[in-house]
Amino acid sequence: MNQGYDVSPILRLHYDIEPMNVTPQKGGWAALAFRVTCAHGRSYFLKMYEKSRASTAKWTALIDVYMPVMEWLRHHSRLQGSVPVPVLTNNGRFQCEDEHGVYLLYDYIDGETIGERALSEMQFSRLSELIAELHAYGEEIPVPTEALKETFDVPYLQPLRSVIDTELYELPADVQAVLQSYTPQLQEALLTVEQLSAVLKERTLPMVLCHTDIHNWNLMQSGDELLWIDWEGLRLAPPEADLMFMAEMPYYDRFLCEYRKRHAGYEVNREALHFYQGRRKLEDIWEFIEQLLQDKQDEQDRADTLHSLQKELKSLDA
Ligand SMILES: Nc1ncnc2c1ncn2[C@@H]1O[C@H](COP(=O)(O)OP(=O)(O)O)[C@@H](O)[C@H]1O
Ligand SMILES: [Mg+2]
Repeated sequence: MNQGYDVSPILRLHYDIEPMNVTPQKGGWAALAFRVTCAHGRSYFLKMYEKSRASTAKWTALIDVYMPVMEWLRHHSRLQGSVPVPVLTNNGRFQCEDEHGVYLLYDYIDGETIGERALSEMQFSRLSELIAELHAYGEEIPVPTEALKETFDVPYLQPLRSVIDTELYELPADVQAVLQSYTPQLQEALLTVEQLSAVLKERTLPMVLCHTDIHNWNLMQSGDELLWIDWEGLRLAPPEADLMFMAEMPYYDRFLCEYRKRHAGYEVNREALHFYQGRRKLEDIWEFIEQLLQDKQDEQDRADTLHSLQKELKSLDA
């Protein structure tokens, strides 16, 4: 898939890097990835957001806002050593682009993605510490965070609603069939999230820096260190934006215990938690629908996406 791109010109032009070897990596959900090795042995991780993908604008819009916050955290908090190290372009920028994509470069992390495996007790406890540390920072840090502030908007709410209310019969038959069998559940989820969004917009909730995408594919073990990667979702938000992921893990109680050592008296805001759980589901559902309707996918990718969509819709029943 990503073999089609020659990223060497980007590396030469923007980073003065002469690659000896460029190997496509198993990327994540949002981007393609390459391991870049140089003659002197240093390795890099190049992330490429393809401009042809529907989701790219969403993932790249805030790079120049969240990266400086990350860099501040890397230098001034105890997240140091646990977050990826970006490599800047020759012009001191965090990103560069060509007609095919938007690129971010990092030091290569020699380690293993947790991925399918479960976190060990030690890893879970380390992750708990890292979250508690991240949440100790907010808008007071000396780097602008205003653009990262949670608005409780749900941009895919209306598009999703018009897909199921009015456009259903114009969709490809396979997508239509899957959506049709879950229409009532989807309508109910849309309503719940819409109501919670309106309620939360009226509240003044404490906001802290949140990662907002905590799962085992965004965690790597490298030697003794647990690395927390993929910070595109960095936001200033109520802590539940992160806690929603912990709430789904075993040992959640232990996490809360650990968390309260740093954040004494913390109580979960149920409305915020439900909002984030619901919004995440709608976001994933919308992302799959967009992929099916807009992205160029081969047959296998399309079948996989359709299956993921179905699984996500089914989880609305839970
Ligand atoms: N700096 C890095 N060095 C080595 N591997 C990395 C690095 N960053 C990410 N990865 C690997 O690439 C995968 C995708 O990266 P990630 O930043 O999560 O991208 P996405 O936004 O597409 O999910 C991760 O699950 C991890 O296995
Ligand atoms: Mg990821």
